[in-house]
Amino acid sequence: MNAMTTVSALKIVIVGHVDHGKSTLVGRLLHETGALPEGKIESLREVCDKRGMPFEWAFVMDALQAERDQGITIDTAQILFKTERRPYVIIDAPGHKEFLKNMVTGAASADAAVLVIDAIEGVQEQSRRHGYLLHLLGLRQLAVVINKMDAVGFSERRFEEVATEIRSYLGEIGVTPTEIIPAAARHGDNILHRSAKMPWFAGPTVIEALDGFTAAIEDASLPLRFPVQDVFKFDHRRIIAGRIESGRLKVGDRLLFSPSGKTARIASIEAWNAKTPPVAAAAGQSIGVTLDEQVFIERGQIASLLDDAPLGTDVFRARLFWLGRAPLSAGRRYKMKLGTAEHSVTVETVERVIDVTDLASVNTDWVEKNAVAEVILRARGKVALDEFADNPKTGRFVLVDNFDIVGGGVVSMQGFPDHRCRPDAVNEDITAVAHKVSMQDRQAANRHRPGVLWLTGLSGSGKSTIAMEVERRLFGRGYQVFVLDGDNVRQGLNADLGFSPDDRAENVRRIGEVANLFAQAGMIVIAAFISPYRADRDRARAAAAGLFHEVYVKAPIEECQRRDPKGLYAKARQGGINEFTGVTAPYEPPLNPDLVVDTAALSVVEAVELVLRYVERDMQRDPDQDAPERPDVAL
Ligand code: ADX
Repeated sequence: MNAMTTVSALKIVIVGHVDHGKSTLVGRLLHETGALPEGKIESLREVCDKRGMPFEWAFVMDALQAERDQGITIDTAQILFKTERRPYVIIDAPGHKEFLKNMVTGAASADAAVLVIDAIEGVQEQSRRHGYLLHLLGLRQLAVVINKMDAVGFSERRFEEVATEIRSYLGEIGVTPTEIIPAAARHGDNILHRSAKMPWFAGPTVIEALDGFTAAIEDASLPLRFPVQDVFKFDHRRIIAGRIESGRLKVGDRLLFSPSGKTARIASIEAWNAKTPPVAAAAGQSIGVTLDEQVFIERGQIASLLDDAPLGTDVFRARLFWLGRAPLSAGRRYKMKLGTAEHSVTVETVERVIDVTDLASVNTDWVEKNAVAEVILRARGKVALDEFADNPKTGRFVLVDNFDIVGGGVVSMQGFPDHRCRPDAVNEDITAVAHKVSMQDRQAANRHRPGVLWLTGLSGSGKSTIAMEVERRLFGRGYQVFVLDGDNVRQGLNADLGFSPDDRAENVRRIGEVANLFAQAGMIVIAAFISPYRADRDRARAAAAGLFHEVYVKAPIEECQRRDPKGLYAKARQGGINEFTGVTAPYEPPLNPDLVVDTAALSVVEAVELVLRYVERDMQRDPDQDAPERPDVAL
């Protein structure tokens, strides 16, 4: 490694309506920072004079473009310049389409953006779309340049008008501009030098604003992500090989492999061409590691450190660029490649489609070639991944259909909980102890089988009403039964949880564990929770393996809103409750429930009878059998 510290280049994109002065700004930036070859401007001026046309800064861009066209065609052109602080790369592409494709598929990624707006025209439809584009790409550092201030007499009032307008639009889509700068690119006002014509403006110049941005975090400083490419067997050793995508590792680190949850320590690092085996390695290196234990690891797993694992989920939101000849549509299945893993995914919903030629939103549930879309993808099993904004390396994927890459996308977990892969061995110092009362003993004493009746459904679907009545009736018949209800458990055990996707997942995880404990104690548990995510219910099912019964308490959302027993739907619609299920948060109905109770079609009495019949059939207490003697329980 070079001991000298070099400042790496900051990658920026410049967007905005063409006529709003994007090219002029780029030309001027290059000129003012001395990035243009000597004599370039003079020769351009000469050409203009000869042709009897006025010189424009935008011609600099055209000239660069012409030079570029003579070379090999590359999708992304990189224009370089340097300030006193550091070097810059302007990522430029011939059009939206190429640009978006590069950004989404990972050919290029920017650290910051500049949005150019014409001071006379103000915020146009195109400016909005470009703003949306920045949001789509997850760019967080943005300077807005309100250009052509000379054409509005350097008016502070006009500047404020346009600034307010763009700030409010960007605010709506969750983008906060770092700076809004009045400028006249053509004359160099507020580009490198502060403009004497706008003494009312106290903010930075464009160059100062750029210098104020922070570079993306270096890959090696991000959490460790080491996707397993191959497992080789050498004599008695197994070598786990791959490329470290981010972070660092060293001999002795305990690795967590996601999504399997396996863990083991690094015994050695094997690097190709190294005389002495290294003790540490970092992002960008292709290495192999051996582990201190023989755990079964396969290609596709992502190794991380224990305390900073990737997310785990079977459903996520994606912004994707579609390249397939056949349109993408809801219900279709594709192969997804993320890191070295391959997963089968289905398009669950197409939420929004953006035509990239004019960036307009189109209202369809299919996605044509070259369009960008926001979709929800569901995988067959659990996928280890990251939010693109947290780690671009493991937050990006491609879709494959018949061996062709048909799309590329970035991951967003907005609205979905993390089912982070927990290590399989919780703690080496914990050992389970065995009970001396068996399940059969308890069953014989209670004269019924234990079980978890898991009631899931929208708020107001009737879960609590049914649960409490079933409990009363079963108790009357001599069953050991207890209701766990959302609103009750959230007063105590889960008082620390709210309604974010992650909190709901944790709510359901804990209840799943508690319900299993009750069932292990021989009881029938009725759990009444919205439990909106399928994966959470599956986890509760796994916790009470063999004893779990999923009961879907079904009622259309309109019916629940009409009932609105707690007045919460009304409150949610008025914006009084965030993330309310069915209104502003998702509900995933069961795919294959053990019992469906349709409360729109049944009366409360009928619904209760239906559940009772199910219990009697499945956990029947034998009425003729005398209570057995209590088994001999050692005290
Ligand atoms: S769950 O989604 O985590 O399973 P749970 O069943 O525990 O929810 O709690 C749902 C109850 O909390 C609802 O019946 C309602 O009374 C109340 N509640 C408060 N805020 C919300 C919200 N944002 N979404 C849904 N229910 C809410």
